[in-house]
Amino acid sequence: MTRRSNLVSALFTLLCSAAQGADMPTFTEQIAPLVYEKCAGCHRDGQGAPFTLLTYAQVKKRALQIADITDERVMPPWHAEHGVVDYANDRSLNDEQIALIRRWVDAGTPEGDPARLPPAPKFPEGWQLGKPDLIAEVPEGYSVPAEGPDTYRNFVVPLGLTEETWVNAIEFRPGAPSVVHHVLYFIDTSGKAREADAADPAPGYNGMGRSNGNFRYLGGWDLGTQAAALGYGLAWLLPKGADLVLQVHYHPNGKLAQTDRAVVGFHFADKPTARPWTIVPVPPFFGILSGINIPPGEKEYIKESSMVLPVDIEAIGVNAHAHYLGKRMEMTATLPNGEKQWLLKMVNWNFAWQEDYAFKQPVKLPAGTRLDALISWDNSDSNPYQFAHPPRAVRWGPTSADEMGTLTLTVMLNTAEEKKTLHTELKRTLTGQLIQRVFEKDIDGLGTVRSQIGGEVSVPDPEQLARFHALTLGLDINKDGKLDHAELQPGINFVIPMMRGFGEIGID
Ligand code: HEC
Repeated sequence: MTRRSNLVSALFTLLCSAAQGADMPTFTEQIAPLVYEKCAGCHRDGQGAPFTLLTYAQVKKRALQIADITDERVMPPWHAEHGVVDYANDRSLNDEQIALIRRWVDAGTPEGDPARLPPAPKFPEGWQLGKPDLIAEVPEGYSVPAEGPDTYRNFVVPLGLTEETWVNAIEFRPGAPSVVHHVLYFIDTSGKAREADAADPAPGYNGMGRSNGNFRYLGGWDLGTQAAALGYGLAWLLPKGADLVLQVHYHPNGKLAQTDRAVVGFHFADKPTARPWTIVPVPPFFGILSGINIPPGEKEYIKESSMVLPVDIEAIGVNAHAHYLGKRMEMTATLPNGEKQWLLKMVNWNFAWQEDYAFKQPVKLPAGTRLDALISWDNSDSNPYQFAHPPRAVRWGPTSADEMGTLTLTVMLNTAEEKKTLHTELKRTLTGQLIQRVFEKDIDGLGTVRSQIGGEVSVPDPEQLARFHALTLGLDINKDGKLDHAELQPGINFVIPMMRGFGEIGID
């Protein structure tokens, strides 16, 4: 090699390493801002994540695991499929950010110039949405044993409101997060909740039927719920003198007894709701009448439900719900012009993350749009969330060991009248499912409903069921052994005036 080419090659090497240096990410310049924005919200003291990710030392210590887990899109937790629907609250990383972490780890996790480290992020202490206007605290702590069956406990908190009040954000804070699985809020103006509470010497009272049927549903909180205002000028109405009924689903943590005393913060809106709004669960009531009956070992058990919207709506968010065995969750809208649109696609349901997925813009769905929901469950041994070894048959039920499944849209409407029409359609859907169960002589399915709701929904005894069954046979006009949408309608018209015990399905 000549002197000259030696020089050229030395120069070239120098240039290359300079270019590499410029490209080599450092903690202080590239990684810290990313970790502050995307990880530290949970990975800090007092939050759900198991360790803190803030300083160079903390991130360096787990660098390889972080590169792997972000690559696999396990972290940050976000379970909707990428590139299907854009959500406003998507907390996942994009491809460049994932590649950046990998490059940093491959480069040996360089720290970079400490002077360039951006200031550590500030997070609100305590209430995530700021100090609420009204704080409702469960009056007494409730003991949850270390082990035992799940329980549903209702707590009554008088709100002391002297006038009608509109609220645009509700923030829930569990006292003992490790045992609180989910919470539903109800509003009672009848005094029945207080009566039930007084009749039970321990704090609150048991069961789910009494609240769900009688009180006005206000919304809820799940593990993984991010506190957020409703948006779009929407608000809930709290009537004067109303009591808050908090129905808490407890799941003992298997390790330590806990005492839970939940607090709920309400943020007042300065105006009534800008538009009527409600929820559209497909299927209704968490699939109570879907006939869920999952054989042991079944890798993918599928239930599909549909509903045709009777009025124009604008959907602002979607939520999925199932228990441990849930696998695939899908919701699409097929518009009257035949165009199909995804609302949610999830192939790896994770019980621990029951998010509300907020659409970037409201999704307009005109009357006549068909909503299709598909939910599947994996009841095999190879499901990492399987807790029964060997697996056993699983039916619908309220405890974490049972299953449920529903996909719920939060929607805005144009008029109060149209909201009523929508609620009636939901009730008709549920009634149609009830008729299906009778038609299929699904005694177990109906019996599950009775025992789980606490006997408050009247389910026929076997003799009555046989009579009802005979009636439903007449609905099957084409005698194909199935009841299709059209065949169901006369049955629904007949039964719906008798439907009691389910109360209102949507949010008022
Ligand atoms: C919304 C809250 C949240 C965010 C945001 C978040 N994490 Fe996590 N992370 C958790 C929780 C909770 C766990 C505990 C395991 C679980 O529940 O999945 C966890 C676990 C982990 C683990 C251990 C996983 C294991 O299998 O032991 C790593 C590593 C991790 N997170 C890294 C990150 C990184 C890196 C980011 C940002 C890019 C991030 N996380 C963002 C909540 C979060």
